[in-house]
Amino acid sequence: MPGAVIPGRALGVVEQSRNRQFQPGDVVQGNLGWQTYAISDGTGLVRLPQDRSAPLTAYVGLLGHIGLTAYVGLVDIGQPRAGETLVVSAAAGAVGSVVGQIGKIKGCRVVGIAGGADKCRWLTDSLGFDAAINYKSEPLIEQLAQHCPAGVDLFFDNVGGAVLDAVLHHINVNARIVLCGLISQYNAIGPVPGPYNFANILTKRARVEGFLNSDHLDRMEACLADLGRWLKQGKLQYQIDITAGLEHAPAVLNRLFSGSHMGKLIVQVSDEPSQGNAGSTGC
Ligand SMILES: NC(=O)c1ccc[n+]([C@@H]2O[C@H](COP(=O)([O-])OP(=O)(O)OC[C@H]3O[C@@H](n4cnc5c(N)ncnc54)[C@H](OP(=O)(O)O)[C@@H]3O)[C@@H](O)[C@H]2O)c1
Repeated sequence: MPGAVIPGRALGVVEQSRNRQFQPGDVVQGNLGWQTYAISDGTGLVRLPQDRSAPLTAYVGLLGHIGLTAYVGLVDIGQPRAGETLVVSAAAGAVGSVVGQIGKIKGCRVVGIAGGADKCRWLTDSLGFDAAINYKSEPLIEQLAQHCPAGVDLFFDNVGGAVLDAVLHHINVNARIVLCGLISQYNAIGPVPGPYNFANILTKRARVEGFLNSDHLDRMEACLADLGRWLKQGKLQYQIDITAGLEHAPAVLNRLFSGSHMGKLIVQVSDEPSQGNAGSTGC
């Protein structure tokens, strides 16, 4: 609605509180919206630990709702098994880059799909993906045949549309397709066509399951324990792309669609507080 605050997840520092669960100086995460200051009754706010072992920005991505999305979608819904072939779309993005690394930890052969040679190099050279496919350079269906010689057991989809269709062409019997996002269709005007290779879901007895991270907040503790441990062990990496200034938020949002970033896009609205200090910040 025009004039309303645009909803969005953010980190903030408590400046004043009449809620006994929160003290001034606490750093919290929640649906604080695109604004410099927010008022909350505490519902849905999570207090970050005082003795944070990771930089604050990690809590907007890997150790926040992005990590939860990747973890619940892959581990709980996808149920990866060692030796399986896992394909991830938008693999160099915030969610996809974490999904692929968890897939490697779980013993899968991981193939990422991303839009550009630099992104593909980052996936294989830095994040340990077994292969990366630049869907903008050659037909995806042929590249998948080359990099997934044993077919696709598990597909973590952030994109939908033509990318989903190409992967459906290669799925194995009992494949699982985790529908996390459909970013290729968010700006569509009018109805979007269904997948052309839909019949493969039947003939391959595949399971397609969509999910929303907000239904799985009860998994946050287990998720953070695993992700935190893997991060400490050097098995997980994350990348952030920060722009300072709330006025840039609309342009940064559009970069999700142009794909001109790797890892998690963040808008910083004020200076980072030092640990335990009051201040105001949001990302
Ligand atoms: N289910 C949930 O609870 C949940 C929670 C959070 C996010 N999500 C979804 O997860 C997906 C990833 O989110 P994110 O925050 O991690 O974003 P992101 O992956 O960091 O950024 C989106 C990426 O999507 C790719 N893309 C954009 N338009 C595309 C198109 N038309 N065709 C193919 N690829 C396209 C771009 O990468 P390339 O340059 O590689 O094309 C872009 O970098 C989104 O669909 C989002 O809505 C779902």
